[in-house]
Amino acid sequence: MAGLLQGKRLLVTGVITDQSIAFSVARLAQEQGATVVLTGYGRLSLVERIAKRLPQEAPVLELDATDPAQLDSLADRVREHVDGLDGVLHAIAFGPQSTLGGGFLTAPWEDVATALHASTFSYKALAVACEPLMPAGSSLVGLTFDATQAWPVYDWMGVAKAGLESTNRYLARYLGARGIRANLVSAGPLRTMAAKSIPGFEAFEEAWVHRAPLGWDLTAIEPAARACVALMSDWFPATTGEIVHVDGGFHAIGA
Ligand SMILES: NC(=O)c1ccc[n+]([C@@H]2O[C@H](COP(=O)([O-])OP(=O)(O)OC[C@H]3O[C@@H](n4cnc5c(N)ncnc54)[C@H](O)[C@@H]3O)[C@@H](O)[C@H]2O)c1
Repeated sequence: MAGLLQGKRLLVTGVITDQSIAFSVARLAQEQGATVVLTGYGRLSLVERIAKRLPQEAPVLELDATDPAQLDSLADRVREHVDGLDGVLHAIAFGPQSTLGGGFLTAPWEDVATALHASTFSYKALAVACEPLMPAGSSLVGLTFDATQAWPVYDWMGVAKAGLESTNRYLARYLGARGIRANLVSAGPLRTMAAKSIPGFEAFEEAWVHRAPLGWDLTAIEPAARACVALMSDWFPATTGEIVHVDGGFHAIGA
């Protein structure tokens, strides 16, 4: 049987360790027949080292998703490896320390702006940078953490995710006519580098493990990655502007 992504060409952002959600997406995508190009931010040699752990080593392009020059040149740099993109994964979030961990009322605008630029606007920016390479039927996928509630310590990242969820709906609106879908996976808490850098993140972990009807494993990255792969496949052809929860059912349950 052919893989779910047989013959598809994907751009995967957000790999920094082999615990990154993006790493699991890249691995599963290759296992399902896709050709994967990675982007890396900052420590490129580290990302290149991680890329060697994939079933097939993937090329790594430098991308700071807040840098207009790097975004402008992205399509040409991608073309050196693949002649189009059927799927693009946005797995990018960053907030300065002041914007997380209980400093909601005191974080300065400059830091909040940095968080929103890297975590929210970057989804639109990445979509626009990749659009020239994306044929009808292609798919953008991003990752959110349920932004319908005010969580402990998540603070301005929660606001950034609310913006990301809205951005996803606008991308669906603006790119739908081109046949490009935009969807998010809303994952429960996972112990990646991004999560570990949030002071007090354990507060989420407790709640999830005890309340999710299916239970929740904080170290199991693959369920969220599988949903990303499924959304990039041809099996969600009429779904866009959607948020698929991969959270053990937590969002559906009251206290
Ligand atoms: N871990 C969780 O509990 C959880 C839950 C829900 C959603 N998410 C989301 O999943 C996505 C991936 O995070 P992760 O948990 O795999 O952590 P991670 O630390 O492995 O990945 C975050 C990535 O963002 C990249 N990044 C930061 N600033 C960037 C910039 N300016 N340009 C390009 N890349 C940049 C980092 O290099 C890193 O690769 C994020 O959007 C995160 O908010 C994570």
